[in-house]
Amino acid sequence: MTSNVELAELATRHLWGQFSSLGRSVDGMTVIERGEGCYVWDSQGTRYLDGLAGLYTTQAGYGRSELAAAAGAQAETLAFFPIWTYAHPAAVHLAARLADLAPGDLNRVFFTSGGSEAVESAWKLARQYFKAKGEPLRTKVISRDLSYHGVTMGALSITGLASVKGMFEPLVPGAIKVPATNSYRLPPHAADDSYFAEEIEQAILREGPETIAAVFLEPVQNAGGCFVPPDGYFRRVREICDTYGVLLVSDEVICAYGRLGTMFGCERLGYQPDIITSAKGLTSGYAPLGAMLVSDKIAEPFADTDEQFLHGYTFAGHPVSCAVALANLDLFERDDLCGNVLANEASFRAALDDLSDLPIVGDVRGMGYFYGIELVKDKGTKETFTAEEAQHLLRSFLSNRLAELGLLCRADARGEPVIQLSPPLIAGQAEFDTMNQVIRQALTEAMAEMQRFH
Ligand SMILES: Cc1ncc(COP(=O)(O)O)c(C=O)c1O
Repeated sequence: MTSNVELAELATRHLWGQFSSLGRSVDGMTVIERGEGCYVWDSQGTRYLDGLAGLYTTQAGYGRSELAAAAGAQAETLAFFPIWTYAHPAAVHLAARLADLAPGDLNRVFFTSGGSEAVESAWKLARQYFKAKGEPLRTKVISRDLSYHGVTMGALSITGLASVKGMFEPLVPGAIKVPATNSYRLPPHAADDSYFAEEIEQAILREGPETIAAVFLEPVQNAGGCFVPPDGYFRRVREICDTYGVLLVSDEVICAYGRLGTMFGCERLGYQPDIITSAKGLTSGYAPLGAMLVSDKIAEPFADTDEQFLHGYTFAGHPVSCAVALANLDLFERDDLCGNVLANEASFRAALDDLSDLPIVGDVRGMGYFYGIELVKDKGTKETFTAEEAQHLLRSFLSNRLAELGLLCRADARGEPVIQLSPPLIAGQAEFDTMNQVIRQALTEAMAEMQRFH
């Protein structure tokens, strides 16, 4: 058996982690080896509560033999075949099932290997759709500040996080940004939170409606810390999109498949998109898969003609991934995972709201099994930490301390400093209590640490 130290050494030498520095010290490397339910174990046998479901992904939890069996059976029957001009049963059944589950007329399913590819596909489809409809100038897209939509060049252009974009400029032109729905920090010039939707209309008018193809929005925006839209936001956005002939893309790479307590996030928030982009929870992470769900209207120029959507990925709709997704959707039904989220979200929320007495906790926000806790220097004035302080608070202190105390979650400063929680959808009171206790202890220590830091 390879020891933990050997594994960490090998990883440090050869494994180029995602969004990770190559020079990470051997001491700092956690090697996660197995999982069961809401918990994972590292190679030294330490147990952690997975408060982030891997990366917003392991909806059904770890160790589900049904999903492993589905993968094995499919690999034995047909390990691989592309869905370029061919089909295979698993992709067909999954497409039909997703069309059945999706709201409204989202009846066409275009598979990808993951979330960035789904977003990339949606922008390209929107462009080709408008060319086919005789509106070739509609190429631009609108998305929100701080939002994360992936890392391929198109998806990165839609992403609103300057910190991950600068190195790769120039990016794809025509990706316009509007404010994130940060109701905790409403800009001083905004009369009320209807401002956020109106900014989308203003951007469309400024750019010229005839040039805008689509608006890309997450139901609840992850980056920045679970920004829940104000009441009426999506109703108004839908209205604006319809007025100017712009497509509404709901980027549900995180919010689909139960994260907000419904199969799709748009259902929870009461709007009908033209396209849904999804990935992550579709297979509960047991195999990689993304899916773009497309309305009949957008598919229409491609139906019953020779017009092809000129786009595809070898591994899109991989048979093993599709078989796993079908088994995962069976689990959603059998165990009523969405019902579990809806029944327990108030208790989860209460466990986090309970932390609000801590002076460092500025705001708790989110819904379903998806919450952010914004950390502030001064609760009364909402004064935030400087970049240097935030770096120390999150990277040098909190991330490590939370893990030492047995909780894996995200301590992030892509906007203001936040702790994010997004556990497997099977989590219950025991897990909420653990999160509460661990975060309370870590934040209490963090406040003392920040007193010392200067
Ligand atoms: C909203 C959203 N869109 C797109 C992506 C990119 O997905 P992937 O990492 O599977 O490429 C993510 C990833 O977290 C996401 O949160």
